[in-house]
Order: sequence, then C-alpha cells, then structure tokens
Amino acid sequence: MIIDCDPGVDDAMAIIAAARWADLVGITTVAGNVPLEHTTANACRLRSMLGLDVEVHAGADGPLVGEQEFARHVHGETGLGDVVLPEPDRGPDSEDAVAYLVETTRSEEGLHLVPIGPLTNVALALRADPGLAHRVASITLMGGSALGVGNVSAAAEFNAFADPEAADQVFRSGAKLRMLGLNLTHQVRMGAIHAAECQTIGSPVGDAMAGLLEFYTVFHLAEEDVADGPVHDPCAVLAVTHPELFTLEARSVQVELAGAHTRGMTLVDERGPWATAEANCEVAYGVDADAVIALIMKAVREA
Ligand code: BDR
Ligand code: CA
Repeated sequence: MIIDCDPGVDDAMAIIAAARWADLVGITTVAGNVPLEHTTANACRLRSMLGLDVEVHAGADGPLVGEQEFARHVHGETGLGDVVLPEPDRGPDSEDAVAYLVETTRSEEGLHLVPIGPLTNVALALRADPGLAHRVASITLMGGSALGVGNVSAAAEFNAFADPEAADQVFRSGAKLRMLGLNLTHQVRMGAIHAAECQTIGSPVGDAMAGLLEFYTVFHLAEEDVADGPVHDPCAVLAVTHPELFTLEARSVQVELAGAHTRGMTLVDERGPWATAEANCEVAYGVDADAVIALIMKAVREA
C-alpha cells in the first residue's frame, strides 16, 4: 500500500492503522488540511514515531486549478491539533511524489494506492503515466460522498472540493476505484471515551492518539454538541486490509466541476438499472463500525 495524505488528525490515525495492518511501502504528501510543509513534516514525524521503514515523498503544494482550501479549523494550524510529535529522525526522501508514484508502481505492480487527501498527486501521476491506472490493484480513496452528504458545502466533501479537477481525472482514469465517502465515514465515530482509553496505554503512540482524539472531540463538541467525530481516513486503509468489514456497490460517479452550488460534489448515480453510464467505482455504503474501531485501538495499543 502507498498512502497519499495530508496529515491531518485523521490522516495520522490512518497511518497508525496502516503501520499495524498494512504492508506499507511508502507515503506521499499533498497540501490539504494544512500547507504542504506541515503535512510533510507530520508524515516524517509519524514515520519516526512508528518506526516505519518507508519512504516519504513530498508532492503538490496546491490544486490543479484555483486557490488552495485548507481545513485548519478542524486540524489546527500545523495539522495535528495541539499534539506536538518529536522531531523526525530524517526529512522527506524527495520533493517529487509524482515521480515516486510512477516509478514505484512500475517496479512493483499490484500496489493499492490509498489517497486520503486532495487528489492532486494522483492526478498528476496519472497525467504523467496513464498506465498507472492499470498497474495498481486499486485506488481506494477517502473522499467524496454518496447520498448527498457534504461537509465543506452542502454538496461537497473536503478532499474532492479541494481539487475537483484532480478528483475528476481519478474518477475517469479506468482504475479499479473504491470510494469511502462521508456517507460511510460518518458511521465510524471516535471521541472522548477512546481518548481516555488511549491515555491509559502509557506509550508515545497512545499519548499521541489520545491528544488527537481530544482535539477532535473539542471541535465536534463545539460544532455539533457531540463528544465524538467521524474518523474518515482510517476507513480507506482498513477497506484494503479488512474488506470483509465493508459493503460496496458498483456505481457511476462523476465529479461536478461547474456547479454554482455543487462544485466538487461526487454525483453518484443511484438509479440502478436506469443509470445512464457504466459503473466506474465501488462505493462503500455499509461498515462494521465497532470492528473498525477495535482495529484502530489495537493498532494504537500494539504500536
Ligand atoms: C477528509 O477531509 C480532511 O479534512 C480529512 O483528513 C479527511 O481526509 C474528510 O472530508
Ligand atoms: Ca485527509
């Protein structure tokens, strides 16, 4: 698995889950929740803390078109809430995530690409080498949404909204695509109870996870008056490592590029036999949330 990410509170959780459950080959970073310098520094810090023997490559510092959207109000100024991880043992292996994606998928066919940030790096890699779409086992992404659930707007999810042209390219790439959208990730919630449990572990990863969850809980308490929040990004990792926990349906998905109110929306054709286009994506609808949360907690305990 290669993770393409913008850590990011829940991206950090995804990397923690991948360290335990996936055969992680590399991490690429993209601007998203916070600027690229922070997402890359956070990926390097997580690599060190988790003792991961993987490369980290920095990628795009902005979308294909338009201005960068950040989500600092959700993830804090530097991306990991108020968690300060120790300095990493080394910096990124390169500033060319696109070349890394192209070359690594050439030297090792059958990798799962797991994008959990804006899709800029993946789109640029597909543009550089369209054959990548058929060399990867899947592109299993957290982004978009079915059933009309948005977060950045009524229609759009953050990762798709932050670079709709890139998302459009990925959805039209012909790759075996799986979408873990908001309709799915909103079913998997962690918060104060899990933070308290992590605090009792007494390890650097336990403390970091507790801090991430506490920050996340404070945000969701203020926004929605609930003491937990959806842990989006680990769902994409675990959909690869534990597919039996998810139910997916083949759908035609298109990315809205021009809508006055719907730019960045993933329009999922739910018309069944009346759908006008061939399915291009497996869309996740169902999840065993308790099992997913148990796997995340086990990853934290055993890190
Ligand atoms: C997605 O947007 C980001 O803020 C999260 O890290 C996640 O990848 C959820 O919409
Ligand atoms: Ca993310």
